[in-house]
Amino acid sequence: MEVVVKETYEEMSRLAAQNIAELIRRRPRAVLGLATGSTPLGTYKELIRMHKEEGLDFSQVVTFNLDEYVGLPEDNDQSYHYFMWENLFKHINIVPANVHIPDGNALDIEEACVDYEVEIDDHGGIDIQLLGIGSNGHIAFNEPGSSLGSRTRIKTLDERTRKDNARFFPSINDVPKYCVTMGIGTILEAGKLILLANGANKADAIKAAVEGPLSASVPASAIQLHPDVTVIMEKAAATKLEREYLSEPHKLEL
Ligand code: GLP
Repeated sequence: MEVVVKETYEEMSRLAAQNIAELIRRRPRAVLGLATGSTPLGTYKELIRMHKEEGLDFSQVVTFNLDEYVGLPEDNDQSYHYFMWENLFKHINIVPANVHIPDGNALDIEEACVDYEVEIDDHGGIDIQLLGIGSNGHIAFNEPGSSLGSRTRIKTLDERTRKDNARFFPSINDVPKYCVTMGIGTILEAGKLILLANGANKADAIKAAVEGPLSASVPASAIQLHPDVTVIMEKAAATKLEREYLSEPHKLEL
């Protein structure tokens, strides 16, 4: 696992965007796994800048999002569909048919979850999966206690997650109770994982994920099982870590 601690949120975001852009330049048909939440916003801003100023081309890129609320219309400004179009897709030249976000309004959600997994496989799997982390250690919407082998499915949101996300809704009663999320097993099949974290409220979760024991009680600790993980943090999220970490990704000087 490579752990990189940056001074600022902007530096963290730039490094994540550079990793994604390198993949797209090398592999124009890259399959990206994308995340929502406030953490990846800076990364998306930087990717948009690279598209506009440097011609980063998304015309063949395929995306799969991690999760979605159940029962929120896609045009609700808190749905993850809305979030992704507002904060990334409408600013780049992605083909709408290449965008995949779990359907929280499917008539048969269980069937839609199985189909989502099949679609990921049909595209040859995810090359890079971007991840945030919940203050309770969740990844995507895999709440504490989620099976480390779980697949895309419907889940009940933790009260802590509903409280964390209530700031975006008129009141906590408006925060959906259920979600659809890729499973931890699904996430671990991506070719590379990039986990981002900023802010002091993530320090405990990061400590448990990076240095704690592997446990379903901290779903993000499952990244320890993956052979190619980069954790990029802004320094406030790294304050509880006990080992020393780099401020730049390791590069072989041959
Ligand atoms: C949300 C999302 C996660 C995200 C996390 C942290 O509920 N489902 O994918 O990583 O919680 O959100 P934020 O980045 O806003 O702290």
